[in-house]
Amino acid sequence: MKVLGIETSCDETSAAVVEDGTRILSNIIASQVDLHGKFGGVVPEVASRRHVELILPTIQEALDEAGCTLADIGCIGAINRPGLIGALIVGAAAAKTIAYGADLPLVGVHHLEAHIYANFLTPPWASSDEGRMIEFPLVCLIVSGGHSDLVLMTGHGQYSILARTRDDAAGEAFDKCARAMGLGYPGGPIIDRLARDGNPNAIAFPRAKVGDTLDFSFSGLKTAVIRYVQAHPPDVGRGHDVPTQHLADLAASFQQAVVDVLVDHTFRAVEQTGVKQVLLAGGVAANSALQAAVKARGAELGIAVNAPPPVLCTDNAAMAASAAYFAYGRGETAGLDMDCYASEPLGKRL
Ligand code: KG4
Ligand code: ZN
Repeated sequence: MKVLGIETSCDETSAAVVEDGTRILSNIIASQVDLHGKFGGVVPEVASRRHVELILPTIQEALDEAGCTLADIGCIGAINRPGLIGALIVGAAAAKTIAYGADLPLVGVHHLEAHIYANFLTPPWASSDEGRMIEFPLVCLIVSGGHSDLVLMTGHGQYSILARTRDDAAGEAFDKCARAMGLGYPGGPIIDRLARDGNPNAIAFPRAKVGDTLDFSFSGLKTAVIRYVQAHPPDVGRGHDVPTQHLADLAASFQQAVVDVLVDHTFRAVEQTGVKQVLLAGGVAANSALQAAVKARGAELGIAVNAPPPVLCTDNAAMAASAAYFAYGRGETAGLDMDCYASEPLGKRL
């Protein structure tokens, strides 16, 4: 069955067609980064207006590229929670209208569940029959601009929250620290690139613990980076074209502090739950150092690790279509009164 996925929760207008939850036929992502870059972050009202302009052409392009029409689609899956409410409403309204007009079932998808399902689109698991190589239970680390959660997934659609952030999300730390360093927005990919030439042990930044829980806290690290930058201002982003070693070391040291905490908590969660598989999800999961560190630790401990390629880690509609396919299989359809929600946890806290 082909599912049309729609994602408009933040600053990407995206539509995709995915077959049987695992095979991407198209995944069109119209990014608004240029529009928000000059503000150093997403401006919600500006994002909503741009979604209105882009949503229908993006859906059409997704259908065209997949070589199909609405007559070939079996179900529509739209992300309706959590996210910027005005932005979510644009995608949800488009999805409801098409579902009504073409008489198609509709599924409302949780944004974080969609991030997890990016793993079902990723070889080798995507090439297996309906993602069956993913074995439950597993632990998923979801790290994005708005969330840092460790989730125990015991089956399709079954989630318990093992940890969350007490303050900033990991992606927020990347973006805010990049800004303090004088770099652009979004900061994650820029720091990732710069850090490749830096020494991760050059500057000792804090690794916060929240009691003996698995919860995260990144605000102390952010403050430490801001203080460090005030005392030792880096050059780049302030008029110089070539990054200095100092800036590369700063980026690498900050990134290592985030990666160390994420890896440590993820594998403590693995130990506590006894699972044999780890999935990475969310925009920060695109980070090359994080992917390498989690895979290396997994190999050491005999734990299977999967991480989507960067384009499927950051926001996209293919992940929404995959999650919708499996939710539809469980009978989780929505009516035309489907609402949108700015915040909603993925599951209950364990
Ligand atoms: O999942 P996502 O696309 O949007 C949200 O749901 O928030 O995640 C966006 C976040 C941003 O904070 C961005 O800086 C971060 O993911 N990000 C990265 C990388 N690529 C994107 N962080 C670290 N390294 C990357 N390569
Ligand atoms: Zn996201």
